Amino acid sequence: MDTDQKVKIRTAHVNDSEQILEMQKQVVAEGEFLTTVIEELSHRTIEQQQAWVRKVLENERETFIVAEIKGVIVGWIVFQSEGRKRLAHKGSIGMMVSQEFRGIGIGKQLLKALIEWAEEHPLIEKVCLGVFSNNARALSLYKSMGFKEEGRKIKEFKLGDEEYIDDILMYRFV
Ligand SMILES: CC(C)(COP(=O)(O)OP(=O)(O)OC[C@H]1O[C@@H](n2cnc3c(N)ncnc32)[C@H](O)[C@@H]1OP(=O)(O)O)[C@@H](O)C(=O)NCCC(=O)NCCS
Repeated sequence: MDTDQKVKIRTAHVNDSEQILEMQKQVVAEGEFLTTVIEELSHRTIEQQQAWVRKVLENERETFIVAEIKGVIVGWIVFQSEGRKRLAHKGSIGMMVSQEFRGIGIGKQLLKALIEWAEEHPLIEKVCLGVFSNNARALSLYKSMGFKEEGRKIKEFKLGDEEYIDDILMYRFV
């Protein structure tokens, strides 16, 4: 697939919230690589999602970017930062791409757009993220975009009896 031809990367609108929520539920339901489990998300309403997207879009230190193919949202990336003065130069990203559109560069396009936004932002200096240590695809993407490991939280996530995953903390200065 020629993704450059068909994928549109743009800032989200509040009225994308329903599609963003639907996609998020599908990806969370896969049960892999995310802190949130589907029981924690299944009751989220469109209004609650709209409130979250609106809050991000209204915050000048945050952004929400989507990937769209023929009007359908197939991926998104969010950058959120804390209001506290000594943390205002940094923020963290969360991202996901619909299962059927993975591995064709959409994640990379979203991350590239996010980094470009951060580079142009007068206050943002550091982009951070956390990733499950077994998430090979995400780790490969982040490393290829210049992110480096700055720490690891051991057994941060408990998936089941005696089943734990480390949280790898990564950063990139912009
Ligand atoms: C992680 C995710 C966002 C990446 O998006 P994507 O569109 O699939 O990523 P891309 O197609 O841009 O490829 C990313 C990299 O993974 C590599 N890759 C593809 N399939 C892979 C696999 N099975 N194992 C390891 N690397 C793989 C690609 O070669 C690419 O590396 P490159 O940039 O060095 O060429 C997406 O897979 C996803 O939503 N996963 C489920 C949710 C998730 O894990 N979110 C991130 C939480 S931290």
